[in-house]
Amino acid sequence: MCGIVGAVAERNVVEILLEGLKRLEYRGYDSAGVALLQASGELTRIRRTGKVQELADAVAQHDALGSTGIAHTRWATHGGVTEANAHPHFSSERVAVVHNGIIENYVSLKANLIEKGYTFTSDTDTETIAHTVHEELVSGKTLLSAVQSAVKTFHGAYGTVIMDKNDPSRVVVARSGSPLVIGLGLGENFIASDQMALLPVTRRFIFLEEGDVAEITRRDVKIFDKDGAPVEREVIESNVEHDAGDKAGYRHYMLKEIHEQPTVVRNALQHRIDDNGLTKDVFGEGADAIFSKVKHVQIIACGTSYHAGMTARYWLEQYANVSCNVEIASEFRYRKSVVHPNSLLITISQSGETADTLAALRLAKELGYMSSLTICNVPGSSLVRESDLAFMTKAGAEIGVASTKAFTTQLTAFLMLTLALGKENGMTEADSKSIVSALHSLPAKLEETLAITSGIEDLAEEFADKHHSLFLGRGDQYPIAMEGALKLKEISYIHAEAYASGELKHGPLALIDDEMPVIVVAPNNELLEKLKSNVEEVRARGGIMYVFADKDAAFAGDDTMRVIDVPHCEAPIAPIIYTLPLQLLSYYVALIKGTDVDQPRNLAKSVTVE
Ligand code: M6R
Repeated sequence: MCGIVGAVAERNVVEILLEGLKRLEYRGYDSAGVALLQASGELTRIRRTGKVQELADAVAQHDALGSTGIAHTRWATHGGVTEANAHPHFSSERVAVVHNGIIENYVSLKANLIEKGYTFTSDTDTETIAHTVHEELVSGKTLLSAVQSAVKTFHGAYGTVIMDKNDPSRVVVARSGSPLVIGLGLGENFIASDQMALLPVTRRFIFLEEGDVAEITRRDVKIFDKDGAPVEREVIESNVEHDAGDKAGYRHYMLKEIHEQPTVVRNALQHRIDDNGLTKDVFGEGADAIFSKVKHVQIIACGTSYHAGMTARYWLEQYANVSCNVEIASEFRYRKSVVHPNSLLITISQSGETADTLAALRLAKELGYMSSLTICNVPGSSLVRESDLAFMTKAGAEIGVASTKAFTTQLTAFLMLTLALGKENGMTEADSKSIVSALHSLPAKLEETLAITSGIEDLAEEFADKHHSLFLGRGDQYPIAMEGALKLKEISYIHAEAYASGELKHGPLALIDDEMPVIVVAPNNELLEKLKSNVEEVRARGGIMYVFADKDAAFAGDDTMRVIDVPHCEAPIAPIIYTLPLQLLSYYVALIKGTDVDQPRNLAKSVTVE
């Protein structure tokens, strides 16, 4: 949520900051701003509502200069989308601040600061950071100790970068609940909320830990832990691809990412599976010892990742004989739950920084789960660093806000986990062989499935004027229906609900009319006949249906039912295969509706606030 970039260099850093913001724009995109400090102490600020390009145009007109600078792209939490609320925020034309997160006690801090004579020019919580640091500075402290004192008064989450006009040689940064990464250059150093922003200038990173405060100059980085003690943090060489931010000729990142799925799933499987099954240590050293004791799995995630967890529950119970609960992180963390003996806590996340999922992991540690595993796409992210075991999905950078390839690689990971846990819990030889064989066929099946795109483009036309839609599935296709509905509402703004089709007659049938398209996912599995009965229930009430079906499922299309053939696949991978046509459907509907596909309204890619 929101994106931060900062730099301390000898050269003008404005292009580095703007490029960094563009690379982070997917995280927040309602307004943007930059503050630049020249060695002479001249401080310039430019802010604009709208996309980063608006800011870049304004910067070009101003010929802005600065060798130290901070920049921000915003996703509004406190205060509407206005230039005055855009970051950086100033105090007394001296202190400049950018901030991700929420200062939860800002109301009382603000009241205090007003009493002391500070004037607020925005409705944000962030401005309290600027004034609090200013107050500490005027009492005679250095910027570093001013920030160290100020953060003690903040409750909530922050990743923040602060500059002082009177000391242009440095920025001070603080992390608590919102990630920050320092990028190390030659005679210049950088800071960002995500390494993606800095890949054009460095590949050497230090990921700050919770509570860290750091002082960054051109030649030096000093880090202090939450108690103020100096600490060394590991320098990590990033292997994230530099050009991951490129659309590679596709119209949108989302379409590019949909089409990358065969490749990234192949990457996710590579060296992890061979003809006999899983290779050694797929889930990391020590994982087998942990898995041999697991009697229960608790999965925690949000959004699309939660749908991956819901699908996994079907697999873990059916094939691996392991009992499994799945819960939305924001629910799990605020209720009392019972921890089963020998429980493995699994978090799933594309970003590894989702605030609720991270908080749930931390809570689970206190509750006494036997061990924790994260299935995650971002190396070095908070979930990866704080979990006992980490399985990287290797989907590559996902830029489109609507998650696509992250989801299918998460599902691929879960099928491998099913094999690993099943081995310890009496999985049958036949099931094991069937999953291994299905996984081997998966990349090619995904390619085959993407070839049905043109049929889906036609179909999308019929959705463009609709306001509501219903997605139906049964068994392990029910979470896929949920994921299809989430994709459609997220990028086309059409209201979409998903139901397990057996639930139809318990309420949703009342909604059926010819204005409510019903989308059905129908592989040829043991639930097909049950699903067909549900389809007849819809037909009998005048519903218009779009059925994504295995050829052998023998659905006969007519005026009220359009059947879209999906390539036949082996049962374990059917949820992964049926995801693709639903992603494409949402994409083409959004295209026809002319929405902002990659950056849909009101959303942000990585939800690092509660
Ligand atoms: O990074 P995470 O996987 O933890 O993110 C969780 C959700 O915020 C995310 O899946 C969200 O629902 C997507 N925008 C869905 O497309």
